[in-house]
Amino acid sequence: MINSINNGNKLEFIKKELKERENNNNLRQLNSIDPKDTVTIIKNGKSLINFSSNDYLGLSKHPDIIAASQDYLNRYGTGATASRLVTGTYDIHGKLEEKIAKCCVKEAALLFNTGFQANCTIIPSLVNQKSLVLCDRLVHNSILQGILLSKAQWKRYKHNDLSHLETLLKKAVLQGYNRILIVTETVFSMEGDRSDVDSLIQLSQQYNTLLYLDDAHALGIMGNKGMGLTANKSGIDISLGTFGKAMGSFGAFITTSKLMRDYLINCCPGFIYTTALPPAVIGSIDAAFDIIPNLDKERDYLLQQINYLQNKLRNLGYQVINSSSPIIPVIIGNEKKTLQLSQFLENNGILATAIRPPTVPKSTARIRLVLSSQHQPKHIDYLINLLKQYHEF
Ligand SMILES: Cc1ncc(COP(=O)(O)O)c(C=O)c1O
Repeated sequence: MINSINNGNKLEFIKKELKERENNNNLRQLNSIDPKDTVTIIKNGKSLINFSSNDYLGLSKHPDIIAASQDYLNRYGTGATASRLVTGTYDIHGKLEEKIAKCCVKEAALLFNTGFQANCTIIPSLVNQKSLVLCDRLVHNSILQGILLSKAQWKRYKHNDLSHLETLLKKAVLQGYNRILIVTETVFSMEGDRSDVDSLIQLSQQYNTLLYLDDAHALGIMGNKGMGLTANKSGIDISLGTFGKAMGSFGAFITTSKLMRDYLINCCPGFIYTTALPPAVIGSIDAAFDIIPNLDKERDYLLQQINYLQNKLRNLGYQVINSSSPIIPVIIGNEKKTLQLSQFLENNGILATAIRPPTVPKSTARIRLVLSSQHQPKHIDYLINLLKQYHEF
């Protein structure tokens, strides 16, 4: 009988999944907010200091970036109207790629529409069923999706444990794979800690693997002139940067060799079959690349505040991951307790979102605090005082 599949209730699996998430305090909901300035948002009519955004330098509201975006919008229109390979490559796309390659001291750059899309689609262009991917235990979901799509075999090495990676490499080189790809993040999105980029390059060269590094959370705030932790380094086949974090905009790019760029233009579906980034976005990024090198003072201030906040939280007795980035995860463990803390902060004027499994491993639910160079000492001290009060309850 036709109706016998799922007893005729084809949506039952959805209800079951959502109910299960609700029971586990893991149900996600969209909460709309209204951005007010670089660190303040309005939620349900209430002003909150934002400690959850990735706008590390407040560039999403920078007047020169907004003006450049408006200028490109007026000159080129709202959309690129086609994919890059059809009629979507304007002079501004190519010029921006040249500028990015120059800023990052790399041979070539290629724009992608988002970091998620880039990771999902580049990885399957590099490896196949006969390949092996070795990735850090905690890589971003977009990297995992790319690996799964590629149908390559894959193994995870313990978080940031390069001796474990080397053990896996030693075995793998004897097993006849056509290619081995090492992929990881330079700054981990949910932990805030860093990879050892030089050692990864060295291992990749020693074992003749491809090396793919996601530099999304380093760009703008780390490395020489804020160009990230992979800029000016050879031996990395692909380095991904995103524009939606410190650049204050939207989209992504890779830096790579001219050879790899040509290959991806021909063989990467997520580049080929999608409309090019719109002019207003290109304008904003172009301006951000002019501004970011001049923000050393802001980066120094941010680093000071990172150290200050981490030390204060540890002294209060919170379990804080040892992070050297603006991402400061406060591990609570239990989902319900994490939501309670997030709600307490929100009731008192602070937005600090709870991050729960499956985004992070089981029993490591956390408040992912994120600092911006725009947070003033009074904002940070206010947060610390609230967390002190909460801890004393
Ligand atoms: C490490 C990492 N890679 C990739 C992405 C995806 O980037 P985008 O927001 O441009 O899709 C993110 C953002 O969540 C990320 O944290």
